[in-house]
Amino acid sequence: MIIAVAGKGGTGKTLVSALLIHFISKKNSKLLAVDADPDSNLPEALGVKVEKTLGAVRELFQVSRDEMGTMNKEQWLEGKIYEVVCECDGYDLLVMGRPEGEGCYCFANSLLRGILKKLMRHYDYIVVDSEAGLEHFSRKTIDSADYVIIVTDSSKKGLTTAKRIKELMAELKINVKDVFLVANKVNREAMEKIKKFADDENLKILEFLPYDEEVVKIDVEGLPVTALSENSEVYKRVKKIVDFFLEVVA
Ligand SMILES: Nc1ncnc2c1ncn2[C@@H]1O[C@H](COP(=O)(O)OP(=O)(O)OP(=O)(O)O)[C@@H](O)[C@H]1O
Ligand SMILES: [Mg+2]
Repeated sequence: MIIAVAGKGGTGKTLVSALLIHFISKKNSKLLAVDADPDSNLPEALGVKVEKTLGAVRELFQVSRDEMGTMNKEQWLEGKIYEVVCECDGYDLLVMGRPEGEGCYCFANSLLRGILKKLMRHYDYIVVDSEAGLEHFSRKTIDSADYVIIVTDSSKKGLTTAKRIKELMAELKINVKDVFLVANKVNREAMEKIKKFADDENLKILEFLPYDEEVVKIDVEGLPVTALSENSEVYKRVKKIVDFFLEVVA
């Protein structure tokens, strides 16, 4: 099962992804966490340090063409991927990172797409923390996702991005099994507005997450999500999302 977490910038994608990974990692299954944001911060949210990123493989790829010899590119690349996948406690982590130097991220994006397809068969679950906005959809980086979770706050911009993602997926015929909305940092008043939006757009709301002082605290102190207590509302509710995916959806 591949779950991609998307949405407008700053809505809480990384927080939600990190908590999903935290809870799924306790379920004794093979899990791959993917940080697909070039401005990577999923490792920090998980409290792990990553030495290598996919961005660096791009350089290796260019330097090492001769060294590939008779091996085809695909095989060569697959070997290299495993040098980048970092083994963490209960899951593996792949960080896309940023290609060195100038230029766009197309190459890294298309690498990621091919790599996800290759890695899929080795894992039970893959959770992808995406870059803000529409990039990964327009480039079809995550076209193999089974479920997309769009994280939004109560802002008009957050909801507009959610709507655009849904429309773009339809336009590009990215066929996922389902698209869900997670509304984050919302109060009661905003809940009504978001419910109406979800109804109008035919989106299912997976969970409402309140503004959580515990989240602010760990953020200020630079601590990972594992530092959240079991009393944290966000912690409890993302746990419910994981139970839903593992028990209801699977
Ligand atoms: N429920 C919440 N309560 C309080 N603060 C929150 C909550 N959710 C997220 N935050 C804070 O909002 C900020 C953005 O969260 P996060 O980094 O998870 O968003 P993002 O969507 O991944 O952002 P980006 O688009 O930059 O990758 C962080 O400082 C985070 O601690
Ligand atoms: Mg993020």
